[in-house]
Amino acid sequence: MLENINPTSTAAWKDLEQHFATMQDVTLAELFKNSSSRFTDFTVQFEDQLLLDYSKNLITAETMEKLTALAEECKLGDAIKAMFSGEKINRTEGRAVLHTALRNRSNTPVMVDGEDVMPKVNRVLDKMKDFCDKVHSGAWKGYTGKAITDVVNIGIGGSDLGPVMITEALRPYNVPNITSHFVSNVDGTQIVETLKPLNPETTLFLVASKTFTTQETMTNAMTARSWFLEAAKDEAFVAKHFAALSTNGEKVAEFGIDTDNMFEFWDWVGGRYSSWSAIGLSVALTLGYDNFVEFLSGAHAMDKHFAETEFDKNIPAILGLIGIWYNNFYKAESVAILPYDQYMHRFAAYFQQGDMESNGKCSDRNGNPVDYQTGPIIWGEPGTNGQHAFYQLIHQGTKMIPCDFIAPAITHNPISDHHPKLMSNFFAQTEALAFGKSAEQVKAEFAAAGKTEAETAELVPFKVFNGNKPTNSLLVKQITPYTLGAMVAMYEHKIFVQGVIWNIFSFDQWGVELGKQLANQILPELMASGEVTSHDDSTNGLINQFKAWK
Ligand code: F6P
Repeated sequence: MLENINPTSTAAWKDLEQHFATMQDVTLAELFKNSSSRFTDFTVQFEDQLLLDYSKNLITAETMEKLTALAEECKLGDAIKAMFSGEKINRTEGRAVLHTALRNRSNTPVMVDGEDVMPKVNRVLDKMKDFCDKVHSGAWKGYTGKAITDVVNIGIGGSDLGPVMITEALRPYNVPNITSHFVSNVDGTQIVETLKPLNPETTLFLVASKTFTTQETMTNAMTARSWFLEAAKDEAFVAKHFAALSTNGEKVAEFGIDTDNMFEFWDWVGGRYSSWSAIGLSVALTLGYDNFVEFLSGAHAMDKHFAETEFDKNIPAILGLIGIWYNNFYKAESVAILPYDQYMHRFAAYFQQGDMESNGKCSDRNGNPVDYQTGPIIWGEPGTNGQHAFYQLIHQGTKMIPCDFIAPAITHNPISDHHPKLMSNFFAQTEALAFGKSAEQVKAEFAAAGKTEAETAELVPFKVFNGNKPTNSLLVKQITPYTLGAMVAMYEHKIFVQGVIWNIFSFDQWGVELGKQLANQILPELMASGEVTSHDDSTNGLINQFKAWK
């Protein structure tokens, strides 16, 4: 079981507080000036695939030692063992947390309630493979005998964001003749626009929902079913065009999907950690089953690295601890994830759920309110677009925003000089953020350009870059199913490390419930006639204006 240790009461935390007092005015420029081996000292390589350079952080070897001591004192090692071995560490829901079993390619037994879960994991994988083979070969036929050309995944949150992100990030691996689509929003616009170009004879719907009760998904699934039946006319044909990815067989049957077409997963898979499960069927159909397995293999390799490597060389641990350093000592509020790879354009959005739904908690594992900061705000966009949008604030604004820069050395599209140009920006940005430009440098530039002293004096304050903005650089050899799997697992474990140390439960998400409950109360009020008076003045006013206009 996870021990409930308040991190701020540990000796390591107090030590870090003292250390912070000595570090808060230290600059990256000084740190680099005082050491010629920061790159060697603060890089870790994962196989021949991924290099993490964390040297451009406001840390010294002493900082890392003290952060590692915090991890030790908060019993991170025991927590890792507890998670991997199937202990019910998701205590508020009474569940194990075993997304790692879904990608356990070594097949070593993983026990939950005395049962090895690996045989059932492998059974579902075999079923997914068989289904992919049938769809890809054209053996799986629609109701008029035609092969499937379009797959529509209907799901939301963890039943959507992962498959969207992965299929986008791995577009170069798309199988021919299958186009995937994703519908998540209950806003009818999304399903209407998605269905417009599709042919019901050749469209397969995957209804992806762990609970099979989520309002958005069920509403979209019903709309898809009606659209399909308008053409097919016969309910018997639903079996050829609808499959379910769920833990809830009863609800799947109730909805009218043949349970033979159900791809099962289990309550020990959290929604935002479920891309590795049957929820990944859209991924396997889009990229091919073998590429899906490669994705699992990359994650499995990262799992082994996480479980078996000392914290000072352990990539997820290092990322998590540096994140705590900024979040709790420098009081940084957010973290930007900036992939220099257009295919990865949904990566930050994916980890917005992964991180914020996991570590956006204000009660500790004892049920007491925390009196320290927990999860940061996660955001980001692909470089270089972000450079022309929000980087101004990162460079010259008043907030500290630690950034993760991610880029592949090898591009899938080596056209002209695009990739060197992209990469020159990737390298330039972390350099500029770290070291900035001093008033002296600005003045020298002005002098060289022949500006007068008056012009120089007026503009210098606006042209100075203070620098000292921390970044991690993740250089990936190439974005492949394997390396993407490894990176996703890396961030998952970073989130875990932080949740353990913050003494919170990272695998529940009670904070999403209240809005759902209230929406269920409001829906009938919107459908009924008459004035609504049951809420606060603002909510009543808005609802009544909506009713007057609709
Ligand atoms: O947003 C809450 C949440 O429960 C997420 O954790 C989950 O990924 C999403 O809703 C979808 O849930 P389901 O897969 O059960 O439809």
